[in-house]
Amino acid sequence: MNSFLDIHTTEKSELRGMIESARRMKEARNGRPKGAPDDELPLKNRMVALIFEKPSTRTRVSFDLGVRQMGGQTMVLSGTELQLGHGETIADTARVLSRYVDLIMIRTFEEATLQEMAEYADVPVINGLTNRTHPCQIMADVLTYEEHRGPIAGKKVVWSGDGNNVCASLIQAAGQFGFDFTFTGPAALDPERVWMDFAREQGVAAEIQRDPAKAVAGADLVVTDTWVSMHDPQSAKERRHNQLRGYQVNKKLMAHAKPDALFMHCLPAHREDEVTSAVMDGPHSVVFDEAENRLHAQKAVMRWCLNV
Ligand code: CP
Repeated sequence: MNSFLDIHTTEKSELRGMIESARRMKEARNGRPKGAPDDELPLKNRMVALIFEKPSTRTRVSFDLGVRQMGGQTMVLSGTELQLGHGETIADTARVLSRYVDLIMIRTFEEATLQEMAEYADVPVINGLTNRTHPCQIMADVLTYEEHRGPIAGKKVVWSGDGNNVCASLIQAAGQFGFDFTFTGPAALDPERVWMDFAREQGVAAEIQRDPAKAVAGADLVVTDTWVSMHDPQSAKERRHNQLRGYQVNKKLMAHAKPDALFMHCLPAHREDEVTSAVMDGPHSVVFDEAENRLHAQKAVMRWCLNV
């Protein structure tokens, strides 16, 4: 049984296998992100629980659609609908859900909730985002980069802004997929050192450069995300904006990257804050391909989890 909890804890060969599987499934659909189900129905008679303790557009729709395309069924459950956090332990919830469903995807706050769910569930568990990481997003991003530009190994990837959960999974991916990573942002919002050390241990560069123009110089891919994450207090908003204003991804900053560099954002974006519309809608941007590829990448993740 395979749970997909994080990129750094999944074997490189397994991650590569999932990317290739996603690419093949996307190709086989011949450009149709929706519509008729896949010819093969590997999730036939399978039930998948999709648990959301935080809001979601892409994760919710892409997982639900992906299960349906593969012939399975879903139960979408919000945190408030479950007994989670109302006295019943995560472990007991995991044991109970395992009697009903074949696979659990959970979007939650604390990483400990995900870990406890995985420890006590008898079925695979997928990390649909925690405060600390967002591996499904980064699987979609690797797929997206490679379908536009070929292998991501050896490329220079720059994150500008808050070293948040999406950034953490990107750094893990640097180590696992073999690309160089540069973070640019204020010191107070640096990514966790443990992720930078992990990437370096895998033999890639993982650097911090406070000057965004220097950081982006020669980049193959520039990535950013919202300045205030779902788990951050809204009271932090003004301070965050002051800290991060200099790290906005705009045309001037993108001009330092390679001419064929890509721009990514996991969405939802706050236009004119972390990224300008000129970049979001400009020639470097592949943000809507990224959103579509959540579907294809997660289908591969689910098949890997269930070994089907
Ligand atoms: N990028 C992402 O996870 O989007 P949602 O929060 O809408 O699921």
